[in-house]
Amino acid sequence: MSNGFHILIVDDEPNIRSGLAKGLAKEADRIETAGTVNEAIDKFDKGNFQLVIADVRLPGDRDGLDLVSLIHERNPNTTVLVITAHGTVETAVDAMRRGAFDFITKPVDLNLIRQQVGKALDHHRLQTENRELKDRLANAGEISNIIGNCAAMQDVFQQIRQVADTDATVLIQGESGTGKELIARALHDLSDRCGGPFVAVNLGALPETLLESELFGHEKGSFTGASRQKPGCFEQSRSGTLFLDEITEIPTKSQVDLLRVLETGQFIRVGGEELLESDARIVSATNKDVQQLIEDGTFRDDLYYRLNIVPIQIPALRERREDIPLLVEHFLNHFCQRHNRSPRRIADEAMHVLTAASWPGNVRQLRNVMERLVVTVTDDVISADRLPTDLQPVSRPTTGGVRPLVETTEAAEKDAIRVALATSNCHREDTAKALGISVRTLHYKMNRYGLH
Ligand SMILES: Nc1ncnc2c1ncn2[C@@H]1O[C@H](COP(=O)(O)OP(=O)(O)OP(=O)(O)O)[C@@H](O)[C@H]1O
Ligand SMILES: [Mg+2]
Repeated sequence: MSNGFHILIVDDEPNIRSGLAKGLAKEADRIETAGTVNEAIDKFDKGNFQLVIADVRLPGDRDGLDLVSLIHERNPNTTVLVITAHGTVETAVDAMRRGAFDFITKPVDLNLIRQQVGKALDHHRLQTENRELKDRLANAGEISNIIGNCAAMQDVFQQIRQVADTDATVLIQGESGTGKELIARALHDLSDRCGGPFVAVNLGALPETLLESELFGHEKGSFTGASRQKPGCFEQSRSGTLFLDEITEIPTKSQVDLLRVLETGQFIRVGGEELLESDARIVSATNKDVQQLIEDGTFRDDLYYRLNIVPIQIPALRERREDIPLLVEHFLNHFCQRHNRSPRRIADEAMHVLTAASWPGNVRQLRNVMERLVVTVTDDVISADRLPTDLQPVSRPTTGGVRPLVETTEAAEKDAIRVALATSNCHREDTAKALGISVRTLHYKMNRYGLH
């Protein structure tokens, strides 16, 4: 089979066949023609055609519509344009249902058909690119740069491959920094929707007043400051994926609205009247214990069931220590390259410390530590004494000296905050998020414990 863009023209009128073939000669590398469905199928099976242009009315017991179905069965990636007589819209619709890309009405206008062929060609290229991208990702062993060799992560990859191509709603659960967003993106990249948009919205970062407008959009003048009409996330993610991050942060009232939209696929912009539709695939994520929140009454169980059709649970890094050396190597190479440093090695003893650390900030923390090491350590071999001190296993208060419970709790709390601050490079919002408290509470506690 030769490469290039090949067109098969099917029409029973020799004049139209030759006219089209001449008119489209510049658009294709090879053009063949056929006068009947049988002849067309015969040529189609022998050649490698990306585009078929077929008249609907063909002699014999099978017509152009049958041809569309036959071609679609043989190779759904082939683009089919059908030519219909003026005013036979129903036939055209039927053809599209059978897999035709578009239709052209008679009399055939050569300029118009060239445009259509250009569109079909673009469409075909895009489809091929998407397929190749998907194949590459699927065959790469690891999925889009997600490192994980342990059985639990291999399970996660398997789940991703299984559900990526479906439209099923996925809920990703895992501690902060375990790679939930990475997985959400992989689900999108491996799906048929990979050519469409991936829209991520962090529901924890939005004040309640802006939430609705962010999700559903708003009309001009619907509230003070709404100077223009703005599409929301549901609109922007049409034919793509909508990633609802920190789903449990959504206020109870908005939970009802969200549930309704998920159930009907329909929504209205704030201040609007028009009923809009979204076919976005929904992936959501949380680092909270949703069951607990349901028991507490802060998260609706009906919304949870709707979101959790396919649950994906990502284990904490300390529960898959065998992956730590892999991740260390991965980030070491990555940052040496990125910061133009000569290749480094981790001393065995240092690797022991890294593997034994508790990693409350999971992969994100490990990534930050590796970047800091690459930037600050100039030795070829990174030894254990260059590692941050907070990586050493947290020492438990020794038995014997019994202290008031308050003191023990406060010491543990102070420790946790210290570690979280170090993990996030003292980024206040990240720290608060990792600890599951508000930034205000964090500031209060930092003052109280003299942590700065
Ligand atoms: N398995 C992994 N392999 C490679 N990189 C990873 C892996 N897991 C996470 N990372 C990296 O760690 C960082 C944190 O990942 P991500 O943002 O996806 O975490 P998260 O679970 O969404 O965290 P949070 O709950 O705080 O939002 C990112 O830079 C990501 O690329
Ligand atoms: Mg995240």
